[in-house]
Amino acid sequence: MAGGLVAGPFGLGAEEAAAADAPPSGRVSLTVNGKRHTVTVDNRTSLLDLLREHLDLTGSKKGCNAGACGACTVLVDGRRVNSCLTLAIRLEGAEVTTIEGLADGDELHPLQQAFIEQDAFQCGYCTPGQIMSGVGCIQEGHTGSKDEIGEWMSGNICRCGCYVKIVRAVEQTAHGK
Ligand code: FES
Ligand code: FES
Repeated sequence: MAGGLVAGPFGLGAEEAAAADAPPSGRVSLTVNGKRHTVTVDNRTSLLDLLREHLDLTGSKKGCNAGACGACTVLVDGRRVNSCLTLAIRLEGAEVTTIEGLADGDELHPLQQAFIEQDAFQCGYCTPGQIMSGVGCIQEGHTGSKDEIGEWMSGNICRCGCYVKIVRAVEQTAHGK
């Protein structure tokens, strides 16, 4: 049937059929917490799945997987993003920082330390995302008041309701109080 569509793998060799069935994939090189990685991923892979499933960095959490909770927040080129909504394949050359990359050896990042001092978590599931978002919030300078911090941290949901203490921890880190 010249010019017609071939339905399914009929007429193809086994390897060609497998290739035809395989989802489109590509290679991407990016830096995560200072370490360069080159990986081949299904083009639909999110940055969150790349981190958790391919690089064994499970600090970033999967809450909603739909951009609504902030549990997956990481920094990409210094900006906070929901990694569940970010396609890994589009991050060629990017610098990614996750919660695993914040501490300097045994020395916690000041915001990690502040979360402990302010007792700013209960179950801890949202905490990596809260801390990464808080780092972004401080870098962006959105820390003029508790209300401003609350507004600019509003993409990060805490089911345990630790908001007051989370805001205090961000404030302590930004202003030393
Ligand atoms: S898991 Fe990404 S926003 Fe909820
Ligand atoms: S500490 Fe439990 S969800 Fe925030």
